[in-house]
Amino acid sequence: MEPQAVKSNLVLILDYGSQYTHLITRRIRSLSVFSLCISGTSSLKSITDLNPSVIILSGGPHSVHTADAPSFPDGFVEYVEKNGIFVLGICYGLQLIVQKLGGEVGVGEKQEYGRMVIEVVKDCGGLFRGKKVGDKQVVWMSHGDEAVKLPVGFEVVGRSEQGGIAAVENPGRRFYGLQYHPEVTHSPEGMELLRHFLFDISGVTAGWKMEDVMEEEIKVIKSMVGPDDHIICALSGGVDSTVAATLVHKAIGDRLHCIFVDNGLLRYKEQERVMGTFEKDLHLPVTCVDASVQFLSELKGVTDPEKKRKIIGKEFIAIFDAFAHDLEKKFGKKPTYLVQGTLYPDVIESCPPPGSGKSHSHTIKSHHNVGGLPKDMKLKLIEPLKLLFKDEVRELGRILDVPVAFLKRHPFPGPGLAVRIPGDVTQGNALEILRQVDEIFIQAIKDAGIYDEIWQAFAVFLPIKTTGVQGDQRTHSNAVALRAVTSQDGMTADWYYFEHKFLDDVARKICNSVRGVNRVCLDITSKPPSTIEWE
Ligand code: XMP
Repeated sequence: MEPQAVKSNLVLILDYGSQYTHLITRRIRSLSVFSLCISGTSSLKSITDLNPSVIILSGGPHSVHTADAPSFPDGFVEYVEKNGIFVLGICYGLQLIVQKLGGEVGVGEKQEYGRMVIEVVKDCGGLFRGKKVGDKQVVWMSHGDEAVKLPVGFEVVGRSEQGGIAAVENPGRRFYGLQYHPEVTHSPEGMELLRHFLFDISGVTAGWKMEDVMEEEIKVIKSMVGPDDHIICALSGGVDSTVAATLVHKAIGDRLHCIFVDNGLLRYKEQERVMGTFEKDLHLPVTCVDASVQFLSELKGVTDPEKKRKIIGKEFIAIFDAFAHDLEKKFGKKPTYLVQGTLYPDVIESCPPPGSGKSHSHTIKSHHNVGGLPKDMKLKLIEPLKLLFKDEVRELGRILDVPVAFLKRHPFPGPGLAVRIPGDVTQGNALEILRQVDEIFIQAIKDAGIYDEIWQAFAVFLPIKTTGVQGDQRTHSNAVALRAVTSQDGMTADWYYFEHKFLDDVARKICNSVRGVNRVCLDITSKPPSTIEWE
């Protein structure tokens, strides 16, 4: 879906770099209202092109007094007033409104961080409509600067216990401001306030549905792709590429050609399992290429993790290239488009802190993508999920009849088991041992009914031998580690607290049934300082 396709009821967030900005987007979408987030210093044209009904100015780490303090563009105030757009400033956003409309912001006068109690001091029929003067609520504050003098026509409607300005409004001009963060759960009444601001104050109508997203996306793909164009897509077996491919297939049918590569680094029975889903459940046209011998021979003797990643990326590209050439021979025309399952968090522009020397960037997490494509292929990209968050992609997948068990799969890294065998992946039968151990661990997690609580769980093959006693014999076999983490987005993670009995059962089962393993360890580090994967 292109942002321009949203005709009305768009809530646009101008991002000034707060760590909570994306949370505002998600909270608003959870109210069935479409919300987009763009850089707070976007041009006036990029804002007017989107035709928003409401604009939220986010918080941020800046002070309005610094020379390079980010701000909305010239003409912004005139534009919103002329078009009847409602504006809510949150934290730094409030201070911007105050400063730009003729008030004053004091530097670090009353620093307020963490949980605070605020009190309604006036009901002007706006933010606190229906509340009584003196009503209190707990909110989350995080600011140094503070509004000290309001622009003409603005009223203070909420104050902190310390006496600081917590909420202001000028309903006549449709400007509102909160010094606290309503989007975080530490502000228990924050969600209700956002709901009230959108529906009661701004008159937004809820109606953004995943079914509409799907229909819109199909329309866009159909109009973009010519009648004899062919499209290719590399399936990883993960949720994003599968949902993206299923959607494109619904739009253009069998002119979509998918490829699934078995690189010899997949989990136990992975090829059979995902190909079964692609063919039986999703009826996707998928070519499965078994390139395990090719990958493993290139990886033989390689121990450096980044070198391993590069080799895997290069081999993958060679196979992809050959696939595209085969299609060209078959159809007499090069494939024109490439489908990628890029998600919204990968493309959101964010406002970097002043003095960081960085400008707004279109960031793509490089290691999550295929790793570059042959330069002469000149494929145009179709990224149908690029405005969606992971949970929204799962919802879209459900509508597209992707089996729920598939949608809930834990993430699996592109380089596969290669990053779970420190050192040479071809040593002994490390891959086979790891597959068996991993399967026992994951099955036990599923049997215990805790799979969905865990972000990612897997086993690691440790390239060391330890002494054991199995039966009446001493053994000198490998150790394995088990890792399970909880996380929101994979950026930070905490290790999962298993019950002792569960761990005892799993360790026993692994040592009893996997030849070559006589010791099981548990990884109890969070991220940071560790990463989720071992390499
Ligand atoms: P780390 O290990 O960096 O992982 O904490 C964060 C998330 O990213 C996955 N990951 C990868 N995914 N190619 C991928 O496609 C990679 O090279 C790669 N390395 C890590 C990891 O599984 C976790 O979900």
